[in-house]
Amino acid sequence: MSARYRTELVLPPDRGYVDLHSHYVPAVDDGVKSVDEGLALVRGLGEVGFSMVVATPHIRTAMFENRAAPLRSAHAAFRERAETEADLPVLDLGAEHYFDDVFWRLFEEGGALPYPGGRSALVELPRERLPHGLAQAFFRMRVAGVTPVLAHPERYRPFFDATDDMDPLLDVGVVPLLDIMSLTGKYGKKPQEAAERMLDEGVYYAACSDAHRPADAPVVGEAMALLERRVGREEKEFMLGQGPRDILAGTIQD
Ligand SMILES: [Fe+2]
Repeated sequence: MSARYRTELVLPPDRGYVDLHSHYVPAVDDGVKSVDEGLALVRGLGEVGFSMVVATPHIRTAMFENRAAPLRSAHAAFRERAETEADLPVLDLGAEHYFDDVFWRLFEEGGALPYPGGRSALVELPRERLPHGLAQAFFRMRVAGVTPVLAHPERYRPFFDATDDMDPLLDVGVVPLLDIMSLTGKYGKKPQEAAERMLDEGVYYAACSDAHRPADAPVVGEAMALLERRVGREEKEFMLGQGPRDILAGTIQD
């Protein structure tokens, strides 16, 4: 069971940033609508320092009914087009899985779409409340050899004012991933304040763009400056570079 999702992992040879959350596969979710928009987005993310960008299309019942195989085809077609352009980041694929019963069945049947390498997977939660049995489910993912990476914890109401309710998740090895644009106030004041607090608490292991359109890329660049002001240069570099690499390689340090 623990090797079910393993795939080959190829990391870029340079030390550039690695983006673990973005929506540049055209017309599969609420991200970019066209190939040209997708190319503009990955080019913009390259310009702010990313040498690898992992697309994470939504897999969410009743909203984005995506499945692994069609997403792989759509990403491969996009990447083929991107390879005709010079100096774009390395492109790879995962998914942003919405946590519900459908996700759980997909995961157990081998139909989830973890990150390249198959050692971790991006999971999104409902905004208003934590689902029942969440820590147990995440523990079972760990036992199955896939570390749950928690998308934008700062955007969930249960974590707006305190991080205490995350402790059972952290205890089973969940890895919190900051949406860096939260620091600009893009998602509102509460997520911004929660992100700042969780940075001060040292909760996050890595940061990502969660970019949905080309115009997001320069905002991600501005957010990088805010991150550096908050945590210092060394920690910022870790959260955008070694941190995401550790998540992909399965070498996360406690
Ligand atoms: Fe996302």
